[in-house]
Amino acid sequence: MTYPMIGESKTMSEICNLKGVILAGGLGKRLEPLTRITNKHLLPVYNKPMIYYPITTLVDAGIKDIMIVTGGNNAGDFLRLMGNGADFGLRHIHYTYQRGEGGIAEALNLAEYFSDRSPIVVVLGDNIIGGSIKEYVEKFKKQKNGARILLKKVSDPERFGVAEIKAKKIISIEEKPKVPKSDYAVCGIYMYDHKVFDIIKTLKPSARGELEITEVNNAYLKADELRYDILKSWWTDCGLPETLYRAASLVRKKEKA
Ligand code: G1P
Repeated sequence: MTYPMIGESKTMSEICNLKGVILAGGLGKRLEPLTRITNKHLLPVYNKPMIYYPITTLVDAGIKDIMIVTGGNNAGDFLRLMGNGADFGLRHIHYTYQRGEGGIAEALNLAEYFSDRSPIVVVLGDNIIGGSIKEYVEKFKKQKNGARILLKKVSDPERFGVAEIKAKKIISIEEKPKVPKSDYAVCGIYMYDHKVFDIIKTLKPSARGELEITEVNNAYLKADELRYDILKSWWTDCGLPETLYRAASLVRKKEKA
């Protein structure tokens, strides 16, 4: 198989099929003791295990080739729960295992072999949204290269990656800044071309000892290859007792609507 060089006028969708990667590792320490005997992404969010939501996000956007990166002590439970993905109309799910807690970018690096140089849509396993990402994925497919991220205005930006925007362009992204330069949080839904794996290999661990996904996004920004959309639907993570509770009530409201 040959791949077009950067600069040739092929769009992402002409290059290869989009693949999906869900990052569901980590120790979920901020949810102790809920996570002492199971993986955060297996906890309930209203009427389904948390991991069901990011899978549905990808499947709804037409992405059926999916890898789940898990870790910790309960990795086998993902297989018991989801098997080959029949609940989602899938014929197969790929799984891989992250040892320890090296961060989101390190977990993503484990999907390199699976991606096989295709562009990928990455969803953090604890990020739940109220709508579809299809329109953003379609825009990404039309890009010739680079990355695309989703932003959402929040009241507590200091908990997230925060994008500074000027004249509709992202100027910088800071991870959990004490003094955020805007209210735009970077959602845990990222679209990357195959260069993402070269970028990850250049990263050094941050102060919290992790390879940060924000540094990946900043590398694309520096290369002027980072696009963004403002996510229209609601969005929440489930990393804290408070946000796990919020996610359940938002999902419940949606189901009852
Ligand atoms: C991670 C990312 C952050 C992003 C957030 C979205 O943070 O590092 O940039 O805004 O996910 O949920 P975490 O909550 O894993 O520390």
